[in-house]
Amino acid sequence: MVLPTDYALAVENLTVSFDGFKAVDAVSLYVDKGELRVVIGPNGAGKTTLLDLICGKTRPTSGSIQFLNRELSSMAEQKIVRNGVGRKFQTPSIYPKLTVFENLEVSFPKGRGVWGSLFFSRSEEVKSRILEVAKEIYLDEDLDTEAEILSHGQKQWLEIGMLLIANPQLILLDEPVAGMSVSERKKTAELLRRISQGRSVVVIEHDMNFVREIADKVTVMHQGKVLAEGSMDKVENDEKVIEVYLGH
Ligand SMILES: Nc1ncnc2c1ncn2[C@@H]1O[C@H](COP(=O)(O)OP(=O)(O)O)[C@@H](O)[C@H]1O
Ligand SMILES: [Mg+2]
Repeated sequence: MVLPTDYALAVENLTVSFDGFKAVDAVSLYVDKGELRVVIGPNGAGKTTLLDLICGKTRPTSGSIQFLNRELSSMAEQKIVRNGVGRKFQTPSIYPKLTVFENLEVSFPKGRGVWGSLFFSRSEEVKSRILEVAKEIYLDEDLDTEAEILSHGQKQWLEIGMLLIANPQLILLDEPVAGMSVSERKKTAELLRRISQGRSVVVIEHDMNFVREIADKVTVMHQGKVLAEGSMDKVENDEKVIEVYLGH
């Protein structure tokens, strides 16, 4: 039996086996509310698969995933979203022909605001939330811009905004700054620090300078397992980590 914990996210003994190959192998991981956790490790370490398991895209072979004391490991993917988990994949999934405003609008969760609609119109509620999020993601002056003409970095921010609209309590991001310019990276670091306040964020990242800038704690994965965990200073001086990841 897995006991409820005080952590927002408690992953315990999580394993997934693809034809006998354990891509994630007995991983345990605990993330607090308000914490920004970064997961690093060499290619093929199982980082993306770990996020796939948490958001319900892939089913674990064994182990548990508790989020705010709800068990996610057998929950349908859409229900996991409704329970406050937002996932951004490596390839952007914005609607290129829609404007920034419209992209945020279509991401507004349906069926919300039932009570609010008694007092003011739903469209006002949606609009004010869109403006709030657009400001957070540095796109409040681009609301009428078609998504396809945004810069690469702005597209990534828009996709983060499409998650934020629903105010998820856990956000999972796979390599959010890949391909971004230096100034976009800086603004993304600020954005991630800001959105981790009051919720939990798990980020997969390779750029060690960026990791140092954003991480509360770092988890290092290797061959499906957790190799090391702790502050950036701790993990970058860990001999096992240097050997398999940082040393080359
Ligand atoms: N659906 C799948 N079927 C078979 N093997 C998979 C599947 N998904 C991932 N893998 C394998 O699991 C390992 C971990 O992959 P991944 O989680 O993408 O690593 P990372 O994101 O750390 O680079 C890789 O060897 C990959 O080929
Ligand atoms: Mg990956």
